[in-house]
Amino acid sequence: MRVMLTGAKGQVGQEMSRAFSERRIASEMAAMSRSEMDFTQREQVYGAVVGFEPQVIIHLGAMTAVDLCEEEPDSAYLANAISTRYLKQAARLVGAKMVYLSTDYVFDGHATQPYREWDATNPISVYGRSKLAGESELEPSDLVIRTSWVMGRYGKNILKTILGAAKGTSELRFVDDQIGSPTVAADLANAVISLVLEGHSGLFHLSNSGSLSWYELVRFIFGVIGADASRIVAIDSAELAMTRKAARPQYSVLDNCAWRLSGFATLPHYSEAVGSLALELWREM
Ligand SMILES: NC(=O)c1ccc[n+]([C@@H]2O[C@H](COP(=O)([O-])OP(=O)(O)OC[C@H]3O[C@@H](n4cnc5c(N)ncnc54)[C@H](OP(=O)(O)O)[C@@H]3O)[C@@H](O)[C@H]2O)c1
Repeated sequence: MRVMLTGAKGQVGQEMSRAFSERRIASEMAAMSRSEMDFTQREQVYGAVVGFEPQVIIHLGAMTAVDLCEEEPDSAYLANAISTRYLKQAARLVGAKMVYLSTDYVFDGHATQPYREWDATNPISVYGRSKLAGESELEPSDLVIRTSWVMGRYGKNILKTILGAAKGTSELRFVDDQIGSPTVAADLANAVISLVLEGHSGLFHLSNSGSLSWYELVRFIFGVIGADASRIVAIDSAELAMTRKAARPQYSVLDNCAWRLSGFATLPHYSEAVGSLALELWREM
């Protein structure tokens, strides 16, 4: 299989490259970082795609800084929506299938039960709107995967921030009214590869099972590594409203309904997935 990845140096991109080589699947892989292809530049996208002639393009790269997207909406739409348009147009020229990673932030968070793939979207941030716009550039024969709260071995992520904070002594304040499902990047990468290999298309939600608030997640991680959780304080999102530009959905648990109904085994519970990753990273620190 000839596979092109975007966002190759991001946390999911690095995990995806690793998963492909571990599973010895991609006969040829073009893992594109920004220096190899700026996907906001149409000529660069066409040149790279037509030159490599991938069968599958996995578009992982994005402008992911949620608050920055609010400040720079044009940059967000360029990186998240227009890039997807350019890649899709180039993919058509070489007959490649597109795989696009999207987000739980396409929902407004007013639900009280996990969101299915067919539930109405209503993003409340520029990031969410621009990622949803990216989804709209694709066709039913492509693959769109929404995920949430990603954390892995590579790049910057909240798990590493939490582990770094566990080494300190100061009070830690985390919101207790934003509920979601963590997703370990390695589980996500392997699940995406399975969907690609089996030729699936359409919309899928993929996250580890189980859900909790950020406050509960930090307490859980502290428990796993044996750190003192008494300095973790639960706060309401309203307390952060002044300092955070973008609104976050209060409830964005994803029901991996299409995955489940397609016959795949439920992804591991976060306690297993995040627990073992947290321990592994903690021991390396
Ligand atoms: N992280 C999460 O919790 C989460 C949750 C739901 C969905 N997602 C989605 O999952 C995907 C992967 O996320 P991630 O956590 O791996 O993100 P990430 O670590 O922020 O990586 C994104 C990558 O995209 C690259 N990129 C940005 N603009 C680019 C451009 N114009 N040209 C080329 N490369 C560019 C970045 O390169 P530079 O390093 O050079 O900027 C970076 O390597 C994204 O589509 C994101 O929307 C993430």
